Amino acid sequence: MSNFDTNSTAESVAKALATEIRSKTVIVTGVTPGGYGAEAARVLALEGAKVVLAGRSLSKIKATDEAIKKETPDAELRELVLDLSSQKSVREAADEVLKYSEAIDVLILNAGIMGTPYEKMVDGLELQFATNHVGNFLFTNLIIPKLFEAPAPRVVTVSSVGHQWGPVRFHDYDFQDGKVYDKWVAYGQSKTASILFTVELADRYKNTKLRAFSIHPGGAATSLHQHMTKEDYERFSDFYNPDGTAKGNWLRTVEQCSATHIVASFDPSIANETGAYLTECKIATDQVAPYAIDKENATKLWTLTEELVGQKFNV
Ligand SMILES: NC(=O)c1ccc[n+]([C@@H]2O[C@H](COP(=O)([O-])OP(=O)(O)OC[C@H]3O[C@@H](n4cnc5c(N)ncnc54)[C@H](OP(=O)(O)O)[C@@H]3O)[C@@H](O)[C@H]2O)c1
Repeated sequence: MSNFDTNSTAESVAKALATEIRSKTVIVTGVTPGGYGAEAARVLALEGAKVVLAGRSLSKIKATDEAIKKETPDAELRELVLDLSSQKSVREAADEVLKYSEAIDVLILNAGIMGTPYEKMVDGLELQFATNHVGNFLFTNLIIPKLFEAPAPRVVTVSSVGHQWGPVRFHDYDFQDGKVYDKWVAYGQSKTASILFTVELADRYKNTKLRAFSIHPGGAATSLHQHMTKEDYERFSDFYNPDGTAKGNWLRTVEQCSATHIVASFDPSIANETGAYLTECKIATDQVAPYAIDKENATKLWTLTEELVGQKFNV
């Protein structure tokens, strides 16, 4: 395994892996300025990748596009509108990708939300589950043919240490229509689903060239935290002061927290570890809750999600 660690930044990793990155095409979802996706996209463009900037807000995509072009004027960028909470939007975005002339070498499923109040989305699903898992599942499966046009495709799903807050509630993934909703258990469910999705994707494609990884990027101050309240700071009082500032030294920078995205996407030394979970630039499957790497759960989630999107993806 390469020598990247907790102090590595996305830029330093990308520099070290520049030959792997050059001329590749990478889709990064969730590229809002100031977040991990925007930073990952920036450093990939810097090292000569073509980057598809995907997100639900065209104005935010454009802001990141402009910022990247300011630093790397000859950056090759595409823009893709993709609202993961709507299956219609996901299908439209996937159709657009399938029309691209180039292959997709890497899909970085970075977009996500955390701790949102209960909301039922257009497809009848709870918002965090819909966005952080169901949308990713559908988008990935729909664009698989584009990934298979690449010589060594990878899918990287951004999970979180927050998966420890809850398993997938197969008996009640919708929290009884919101009646027993806990926004942190729901985040845990959705991020557990990210890891289980990776386990199943890796297994189904293990005899092919496709590789799949999940990651915990580390914690940094981004707009992900916008739904945190005073009660949440109290609930997580080991990590936060009552005013919302971080306690101790767990908070890292956005530049550091985007480093694992790049390792999982391009480090050749992990190619034989498909299905693994990484954090701080290293494989750390031993840090995953057992329910999140349980193969039976992974298969069950795949089947459930097929039902939720009304389409089977047999492999
Ligand atoms: N920051 C942390 O401490 C931390 C820790 C562990 C894991 N993570 C994970 O890291 C990833 C990136 O988070 P971040 O911290 O960089 O936060 P961020 O800046 O808020 O990035 C999240 C991105 O997801 C996008 N998004 C939200 N809902 C979407 C939807 N329905 N369709 C498409 N895109 C959508 C957001 O777009 P809008 O701006 O339009 O909302 C934003 O671009 C997330 O998956 C998060 O769970 C973060």
